[in-house]
Amino acid sequence: NNYVAIMAGGVGSRFWPMSKTSYPKQFLDILNTGRTLIQSTYDRFSTFIPEENIFVVTSAEYVEIVKAQLPQLPEENIVAEPERKNTAACVAYISFKLKKMNPNANMIVAPSDHLIGDLELFTETCKKALDYTANHFAFVTLGIKPNHPNTGYGYIQFDQEKSESGVFKVNRFTEKPDLATAKEFLSEGNYLWNSGIFIWKAEDIVGAFWEHFQFMYDLFQEKNADLNTPKEADAILEIYEKCPSTSIDYAIMEKANNVFLIPSDFTWNDLGTWNSAYDNFQKDEEMNASNSKSTILVDSKGCLVHSNEQKLMVIGGLEDLIIVNTPEALLICKKENEQQIKEYVAKVKEVK
Ligand code: GDD
Ligand code: MG
Repeated sequence: NNYVAIMAGGVGSRFWPMSKTSYPKQFLDILNTGRTLIQSTYDRFSTFIPEENIFVVTSAEYVEIVKAQLPQLPEENIVAEPERKNTAACVAYISFKLKKMNPNANMIVAPSDHLIGDLELFTETCKKALDYTANHFAFVTLGIKPNHPNTGYGYIQFDQEKSESGVFKVNRFTEKPDLATAKEFLSEGNYLWNSGIFIWKAEDIVGAFWEHFQFMYDLFQEKNADLNTPKEADAILEIYEKCPSTSIDYAIMEKANNVFLIPSDFTWNDLGTWNSAYDNFQKDEEMNASNSKSTILVDSKGCLVHSNEQKLMVIGGLEDLIIVNTPEALLICKKENEQQIKEYVAKVKEVK
């Protein structure tokens, strides 16, 4: 009864210009491991989830890329969304589908853009979560020990005393707090980051939509008869037209009172921004991380240079910059401005 739904419809705009709408970061091998992020995600789950139970939910425009990168995935396991409506719609869609396919479906929902180490521990943690949700009405999250007040994550406050074999009751889930709040959470100590990996029964999460997001529930419920039939694509087109765009974290996780947590020690990295990649790149004595054979850095420190272009590039006397050179665009900005890259991309779209 175990399934995994890999969410792969984001555009990764903070990784521009390497990640772009037509070819986002989950389809790139950012750290040169030999596998793209979505391929590594698939590999992680294929060791303990039957291949026919692995699904990828993505934008219709990426279906061909998914097919090319995951040739072993049955075509009907690629679930195409006609529009990008963020993760609440994505989760509702796949959960309604799986529930109809198998009323006992027990599922992992996973992002496609993470770096995870200690695969044995990861597998063990996922299995423990699946065991738990199979027998409890519970939405389990895997929590990561925070090391800085990142405002791009969800924060989970939990009861350190109340555990049933390592599964803890969550008191509060706060999605993307502001910096002051994030700092407060860190000093309080009993908070973990939401890894973005969720485990639940399809039936239970569908019920949570009914309870906390009736509007979205109704949209899918009305068309339930068409799911997993030849009429599905038309039904989904209609649903998505009306579907609000919000994340599962805001829509359900902040509201539900049956959220549980497994504190997790596997190495976890959300490759969300250039700085997170910088942390993983090899650096020289001056803390420059450059992948470019045609770049010379002189008197420069702490720069991240990413370029596969032939043209000679000289960087002199500069510090803490992100420099990304692709055939279409060149980005130069301060490392501390990495969150603003999203806004730069919006500007690019305006002038284009
Ligand atoms: N199918 C589909 N459709 N997938 C999507 C969509 C969509 O419209 N939007 C985003 N995704 C995919 C992304 O490709 C990514 O793999 C995953 O869903 C999560 O989306 P992000 O946009 O990367 O979310 P986030 O990083 O801002 O926040 C989430 O992850 C954090 C950890 O990385 C939240 O769950 C946070 O609470 C969490 O801390
Ligand atoms: Mg992310």
